[in-house]
Amino acid sequence: MRIQTWAAMAALLLLASVPAGADGSGDPAAVTSSDGEYSDKAGNPTYKIDPDGTVDWYTSVGYVRYTANCMQCHGPDGLGSSFGPSLVDALQTLSYSQFLDTVTNGKKNVSASQDLVMPALGSNPNVMCYIDAIFVYLRARSDGALGRGQPQNSAPKPAGYSKAEDACMG
Ligand code: HEC
Repeated sequence: MRIQTWAAMAALLLLASVPAGADGSGDPAAVTSSDGEYSDKAGNPTYKIDPDGTVDWYTSVGYVRYTANCMQCHGPDGLGSSFGPSLVDALQTLSYSQFLDTVTNGKKNVSASQDLVMPALGSNPNVMCYIDAIFVYLRARSDGALGRGQPQNSAPKPAGYSKAEDACMG
């Protein structure tokens, strides 16, 4: 049941993001925010980093979730490893919807001499409940707006965050 709810939500996310064009390398400027989650002018999730280095809540959550779920293949700070490509590089060109599609459904490079597979993570709530956070973290890394390592200062947790998180994790 929980997994089904998950799949439905992932499908909705994908549908919602289809009209958006390529954005990974687009203008990341935050123009709107909803409960601490920022969006760019195309409506895609983005980061907001203050001049003193304080990151928005989602970017800071994204670092933690990336490190727990993606780092073993994509390397520390998104820089790639022998098990997976650099996502700092990949997000120069990938749109938000392409990113979501790959994480949800996986990807296999059939022409590679090595057998490297991106697993389909669409039914994993530990990934999908935090996918926007992971995206904005990687977007900030890819844009050079955020350095390596854990962000030292973060905006406080938004008021509605814990409730939404609990609802998503089931
Ligand atoms: C078991 C190893 C593994 C894990 C865990 C993993 N990936 Fe991947 N990922 C890969 C490999 C290998 C590829 C390259 C696949 C290909 O090129 O066909 C890839 C490709 C991708 C791509 C596409 C890059 C491009 O240029 O098209 C994205 C986006 C991505 N991964 C995001 C993630 C995120 C986000 C996570 C964590 C939630 C994650 N991956 C976890 C191995 C992994």
